[in-house]
Amino acid sequence: MKLRWAIMGGAALLALSACSEKEAALPAITAAEVDGAAIAAADGRPGVWLSHGRTYSEQRYSPLNQINADTVGDLGLAWYADLDVGRGMEATPIVVDGVMYVTSAWSMVYALDAKTGERKWTFDPKVDKSRGVFACCDVVNRGVAIWQGKVFVGTIDGRLIALNASDGSVAWEQVTVDQSKPYTITGAPRVIKGKVVIGNGGAELGVRGYITAYDAVTGEKAWRFYTTPNPDKKPDGEASDKAFAEKGNATWSDEGRWRTDGGGGTAWDAMAYDPDLDIMYVGTGNGSPWNYRLRSPSAPEGGNNDNLFLSSILALKPDTGEYVWHYQTTPSDTWDYTATQHIMLADLEIDGQTRKVAMQAPKNGFFYVLDRETGELLSADAFQKINWATGVDLATGRPIENPAARFADSPFEAVPGPLGSHNWHPMAFSPETGLVYIPAHTLPQIFTSEQPGAKGQVYWNTGLEFAAAPGPTPDEAMRKAARAALKGQLVAWDPVAKKPRWTVDYPSPWNGGVLATAGGLVFQGSFDTALRAYDAATGEKKWETNTQYPSLSGPMSYEIDGEQYIATTAGWGTAFSLTGGAPIDKVGTPELGRVIVYKVGGKAELPEYLTMELDRTPAGPSFGAPQQIGLGQVLYDRNCLVCHGSLVVSGGAIQDLRWAQSPGDKDSFRKVVLEGQYASAGMASFAGKLTADEAEAVRSYILFRANEDAAPAAAN
Ligand code: HEC
Repeated sequence: MKLRWAIMGGAALLALSACSEKEAALPAITAAEVDGAAIAAADGRPGVWLSHGRTYSEQRYSPLNQINADTVGDLGLAWYADLDVGRGMEATPIVVDGVMYVTSAWSMVYALDAKTGERKWTFDPKVDKSRGVFACCDVVNRGVAIWQGKVFVGTIDGRLIALNASDGSVAWEQVTVDQSKPYTITGAPRVIKGKVVIGNGGAELGVRGYITAYDAVTGEKAWRFYTTPNPDKKPDGEASDKAFAEKGNATWSDEGRWRTDGGGGTAWDAMAYDPDLDIMYVGTGNGSPWNYRLRSPSAPEGGNNDNLFLSSILALKPDTGEYVWHYQTTPSDTWDYTATQHIMLADLEIDGQTRKVAMQAPKNGFFYVLDRETGELLSADAFQKINWATGVDLATGRPIENPAARFADSPFEAVPGPLGSHNWHPMAFSPETGLVYIPAHTLPQIFTSEQPGAKGQVYWNTGLEFAAAPGPTPDEAMRKAARAALKGQLVAWDPVAKKPRWTVDYPSPWNGGVLATAGGLVFQGSFDTALRAYDAATGEKKWETNTQYPSLSGPMSYEIDGEQYIATTAGWGTAFSLTGGAPIDKVGTPELGRVIVYKVGGKAELPEYLTMELDRTPAGPSFGAPQQIGLGQVLYDRNCLVCHGSLVVSGGAIQDLRWAQSPGDKDSFRKVVLEGQYASAGMASFAGKLTADEAEAVRSYILFRANEDAAPAAAN
C-alpha cells in the first residue's frame, strides 16, 4: 500500500517537474527589471537567484544541472572574496545581471562581480557597535532583497535601508523600531507586490514583535502586524487589531511580565508567498520572557493561556496585512521554541490528492505539513529525538506534552534546548526526489525558573536561571559527556511518508543550510569547515572541500556565460559558536567573513590558512575566595557567556578572555567592562548591570578558568 502511494507520488512529481522544464526560457534581466512577475517566473531564468529562497515558495531548489553526479568531482574554486569584517556569516547571496549582492556581520552590503568576485561597491550602515549587545545570536545578517533597481537591507540597529543597486548609494531609509528598546534586525527582507516586508528580533531581552511593510519606491509605511497584544489590550491602529480583538487578547493574562517585557513573538526570519492564493506566510518567535509562568501567569476568564501569536505560522494578505489564518506550533511556549524557521511551499500528492502545502521544521522538533489555503494541519512528526512532547494530536493540532517539561517542581533537561532541533539554517526541497533536506541537530539544555529577586540582574530577560544551564561542569569527564550529547544530522525527510528517507550524521551540531539542484545533488556546509555534495536520492557523498571556516548560510547557485556556479559564505561566529560550542585550539588569519564560489574546472585556491598556537598564558594568577569565584561564574553566565562562551572558552570570533590581557589587571578590566573602552569594537559597557564588586567577581572567575586551562608550563 505504502509502496503504491510512493510510486504514484513519484509519477506525479515527475509530471510536475517536466512541466516546469517546459517553462520557456525568458530573456536576461537587469536589477531594474526585477519585480513580482520576475520572481514568480524564476524557473524561466534558472541562471539568476532573485529572492532569498530563490523563489517565493522558498524551496532553495536550483533548476541548473550542469553540476551533477558526473561532473561534481571536477568542481573547483572559481573565486573567493574576503569581506570587511569578521563575526558570523549567515547571508544567502542574490545574483542578477552578473552581480552578486551579499551581506556580512554588522549589516554591511557588498556588490561583487559574480564571475570574478571583484568588488563593485560596499555599503556600511555604520551601526553603533555597542548595540551588538542586543544581538542574542551574533551581529549577523541573512541577506538582501532586490526590486526595481533597489537593494534592501535590514540593519542590526533596526533600520530598513534601500540602496541603489547601481552604486550602493542610499535611496531611502526608515527606522522600523523604537531604538530605545533592544530590537535588532538580522533577517532578509522580502518584497511582495511592491512592499518591502521586514520583521525584527529581541525576544530574549524583552520586546514586542511585529512585521512591517514599506512601499519599495517611497519607503512609506504601508501596514504593521503585531505578533503579541497591545500591553493594555487596546487597538494599536494597525493591521493586527482585529485578530487580537477576536482571537489573540483572550489568550493572555491581564497581568504578567508580557505587559512590560513585550511578550516577544519576534518574526526574525521566515517568510514565503503564494501569488495564486495571494497569501504571505510569516513565522513568529518565542515568548518574552521565555518562562510562561512569569510572562502570562493565568488564563483570562473564559480564555486559554496559549499566548497567540507566539511560535506560530501566520497567513496574511500582503496588500493590507489582513489576518487570514494561523497555526501555533507551541502553545504557551516556555522553551524558546520559535516558529521562525524556514517556511517552504510545495504541491504534494497526499492520499491521492494534490495538496497545496506549507512546510516547517521549527525549533520544537516536529515537521509540520499544513494546507496553506486554510491552515489545516495535515501531519506533524518528530524529525529528531525530542523529550518535551510525545506527539501532536492531529484532531486538535496541539502537542501532547511531557508533564515534566514545564519544570514546575524541578529542573528539566529539555531536548531540544533553546537552540532547537533546527535553527535558522535554511532547508531545501527537491521536486524530483520529493524530499525536504533539514539541517537538524540535538542540543539539550536544562530549564529552571529564575531565583526570586533575580530580575534586574539578569541580562537576558528569560525568566530562567540561565546560570543553571548549561550548568557548572567542573570536571573534564562531565564536560566531555555534555559535548558528546551534541550531534548534528542532515535529514532527507519524506513529507508524504512522514519519515526520513536517509540521514548523514555529523560530529557537531549547527551545520549549514542546504541547496538542492536539478543536477540530483544537495549541497551543505558543515561546522567542521567542509562543504559537501550528496546524491539527493541516496545521501551518498559525491564531493567534499575544505572551506577553512564554517560555511553555514546555505549555498546558492547561478549561471554566467554557460557556466554553473555554487556559492556560499563562510566565517567564524553565529550563536552556537559564540556560546562556546566550538572550542578552538588555534586561531586562523584573516578572521574575515568570506564568499566562496565553485565551478566545474575551477582552478583558484584559497589563501593559505595561517594558524597560530594560542598562547595559553593567563594574564595573572587566580585570586578570590570560592564564594567570589562562584558569584563570578553566575554573573559571567548571565551576562558574558552569550559572546565569550561557556566556561570562558571562545568559539573563535571574539577574543578568548582566558588569554586576554585586561583580566590581569583590575583597572584595565574595569575600563573595558564598566567604562566601554571597546564599545566601538562591539563590547558594550555593563555599567548599570554590574557593580564594581560584581565586575571584580567576574574577573576572579575568568582568571580561575584561565589558570585551570593554562598550558602546563605556565601553570606553575
Ligand atoms: C554582545 C557580545 C558581548 C558580550 C555579551 C560581552 N562581550 Fe566582552 N567583548 C565583546 C567583543 C566584540 C569584544 C572586542 C574584542 C574582540 O572581538 O575580541 C570584547 C572584549 C572584551 C574584553 C577585552 C579583552 C582584551 O582584549 O583584553 C573583556 C575583558 C571583555 N570583553 C569582558 C566581558 C565581560 C566580563 C562580559 C560580561 C560582563 C562581556 N565581555 C560581555 C563582545 C561581548
